[in-house]
Amino acid sequence: MNLLVVCLGNICRSPMAEGALRARLATSPLAGRVRVDSAGTGGWHAGEPPDRRAIACARGHGVDISGQRARQLSARDFEAFDWILCADRGNVRDVMRVAPTVPGARVALLLEWAGIDAAGEVPDPYTGGPEDFEQVWRLVDSAAQAVVARLAVN
Ligand code: 4NP
Repeated sequence: MNLLVVCLGNICRSPMAEGALRARLATSPLAGRVRVDSAGTGGWHAGEPPDRRAIACARGHGVDISGQRARQLSARDFEAFDWILCADRGNVRDVMRVAPTVPGARVALLLEWAGIDAAGEVPDPYTGGPEDFEQVWRLVDSAAQAVVARLAVN
């Protein structure tokens, strides 16, 4: 199983989701069986580490995401991944613009796919404060726990 989490910049939400998923998977029976990566629909921050506020927030929850580097989503990702899991609906729309005509990865909202929030988006914390990053962490870590529970029974 190959999962790609996608947001706009790949410096806030998707790196935090990648970190939460990696951490929850590592201590589960699925350890080593699920590949997780993240990307942004935009390429402005390519090559950069996650936003320092995202790094600090994750660190506060015991997860080190400082080694991640941002990259832009490409058409090849549709071949390399089974699922592309988006933070919000704008991301879904932008991801579909990159999708190749040959069917590949399926595209979903992360929270919906995880089954924790039928209509849910992970709000962009970029122009917000620490509490917005904490809210993102709560959402993506809840999603990570739900994903582990769901994949473990399949
Ligand atoms: P992210 O947040 O999509 O959660 O990584 C953003 C990061 C950067 C920008 C927007 C959102 N930006 O406009 O540069």
